[in-house]
Amino acid sequence: MPAITAKAPGKIILLGEHAVVYGQPALAVPVFAVQAQAVVSAAPDLPRGEVRLTAAAIGLQDVSWQALPPDTPLRRTVALTAQALELSQPPAVRVWIHSDIPVAAGLGSGAAVTVALVRALSAFWGHPLPDEQVNALAYEVEKLHHGTPSGIDNTVVTYARPVYFVRRQPPQPFRLGAPLTLVIADTGVPAPTAETVADVRRAAEAAPAAYQALFARIGQLVEQAREHIAQGNVAELGPLLNANHALLQQMGVSCPALERLVQAARAAGALGAKLSGGGRGGNMIALAPPQAPQAAAAIASALQRAGAARVLVTAVR
Ligand code: MEV
Repeated sequence: MPAITAKAPGKIILLGEHAVVYGQPALAVPVFAVQAQAVVSAAPDLPRGEVRLTAAAIGLQDVSWQALPPDTPLRRTVALTAQALELSQPPAVRVWIHSDIPVAAGLGSGAAVTVALVRALSAFWGHPLPDEQVNALAYEVEKLHHGTPSGIDNTVVTYARPVYFVRRQPPQPFRLGAPLTLVIADTGVPAPTAETVADVRRAAEAAPAAYQALFARIGQLVEQAREHIAQGNVAELGPLLNANHALLQQMGVSCPALERLVQAARAAGALGAKLSGGGRGGNMIALAPPQAPQAAAAIASALQRAGAARVLVTAVR
């Protein structure tokens, strides 16, 4: 049996993070410039049921999945995939995992590794799982990463399309009336989403009325943004990104490094800029003006000068 390779892109949230955990809508898009990859090949030298994992980024070199602690995402992914296929002793395999998606940066690295691994394993074991099942399985694994995830990361990464997302509802792919050019910059400050989600939960429990109002206001911005994006009104989107950032600041999930990058992007001509993902580090996004080919490059250099650890320019269509 030849080796099977599967890939999954990163993702970025345009608007609606955190509020999406509380039932508000959010908009997110795939980022194809970064990706996770899983390669599964036959291991006839090993007993059935064995899965040996190599993932250099986390120091795994031909390690048995059963040697990993029970609640680790890779072990859980292998177990859930075999279970979904009703295979108690699947043919032994070796798996090589590589991802260039920065970890704990709001780009969906955990979800992308899970999706790539589920796809490669299920295809190798003879029954490629449909997207809906891949997504459901990746959501289970996301709970290990994030505690109480909304499910937006695994959804965008699985379907690899722009998605209008409301928790516990079927994802709705959304249409763009005009392409968006986004500049994505990483603060270089690692920020596990589980921590910021837990902090927001504590704050929301301490001041429920104030936080429900913040979440609802973010939901309104998302609805407006969806309209403007569908109609190709790119210029109208900028102020909505800025307004969403201000509400995230009020929720306490910005930080000095994010503020520096957001300000630098706006000063360099971005139509709008905001933190993206869990916050307190990780990435921010800036919207470049359309029909200005040099604009994205100017914003990208300003972000580099302002200390970004990594800058990506991506077109969303
Ligand atoms: C993480 O990418 C986005 C958050 O809204 C958490 C979630 O939706 O699970 C912060």
